[in-house]
Amino acid sequence: MKHITASEFPLRYGPWALVAGASEGLGAEFATQLAHHKLNLVLVARRKELLDTLASKLTQEYAVEVRTIELDLAQDDADSIIAEQTDDLDIGLLVYNAAVSLIGPFFAQPLQGHVSEVAVNCRAPLTLVYLFGQRMLKRKRGGIILMSSLSSAQGSPLVANYAATKAYNKILAEGLWEELRTQGVDVLACSAGPISTPNYIASLPDTPKRNTGMALSAYTVVVETLAGLGQGPFVIPGRQYRLANFVMQRLLSTRFVITLMGRVMRRMYHE
Ligand SMILES: NC(=O)c1ccc[n+]([C@@H]2O[C@H](COP(=O)([O-])OP(=O)(O)OC[C@H]3O[C@@H](n4cnc5c(N)ncnc54)[C@H](OP(=O)(O)O)[C@@H]3O)[C@@H](O)[C@H]2O)c1
Repeated sequence: MKHITASEFPLRYGPWALVAGASEGLGAEFATQLAHHKLNLVLVARRKELLDTLASKLTQEYAVEVRTIELDLAQDDADSIIAEQTDDLDIGLLVYNAAVSLIGPFFAQPLQGHVSEVAVNCRAPLTLVYLFGQRMLKRKRGGIILMSSLSSAQGSPLVANYAATKAYNKILAEGLWEELRTQGVDVLACSAGPISTPNYIASLPDTPKRNTGMALSAYTVVVETLAGLGQGPFVIPGRQYRLANFVMQRLLSTRFVITLMGRVMRRMYHE
């Protein structure tokens, strides 16, 4: 499929993009690269100060307009609040990046934690896809990116519920990719391996030197994800992770891979 050029990008996915979970890490990097592509931005997260600092930086550096929305995406009414605050904007791209990721034995977490994980990782992307997808279909162009994770390629011990929520995002994006592709709307799931975001680094065991190992930079993940938009239903950033995914999904048995994931996670988190 033909790659989208820099000059085509804002025509196809602009004039505004909304990034849910934009205050730091990967979300802030999505915002920065989209501003570089000349898209105006709506940035959503809970930490207003971080959003506002990023907004003024992007406004100065890229001469784009930026609106910030301070919001907990776990709220039932998150989509109606966003709908109200973006009613006057023509949003051509939705990036759903926010996530809750609880790590540890399933029953060591309170049930409410798992329920919040489903609210932020599944219900909110579903409701925002429904909201903005309909608007995009009316204007016959647009794009939707849902963040998934390689941990969702099979069951993943110690992140069992998180991995299940990420599988939901991948499967939703893939189905919609086929449904909407002939109507001008490109849907893409990004199945990423480890990314060295502040959240990921903070989740590593508190040893003197937190080892980010083979984690990709947020910059690389966003470059490869934006390049994948309009090219297919999903992207796996990083050649090493595409290879690992091939080996784990095609050459090894599911049972073996789940057991291996359990061993790796227990060693990593000293469980
Ligand atoms: N990092 C990795 O290794 C990795 C690997 C594979 C996939 N992924 C996926 O990539 C995405 C980003 O990863 P990350 O965890 O490293 O995070 P991140 O992009 O560094 O930050 C998460 C963002 O989501 C926001 N957020 C979290 N909970 C929220 C809530 N309830 N309401 C509103 N905003 C909320 C945070 O802002 P506030 O705290 O200000 O609200 C922050 O801006 C996630 O979807 C994750 O599943 C990450």
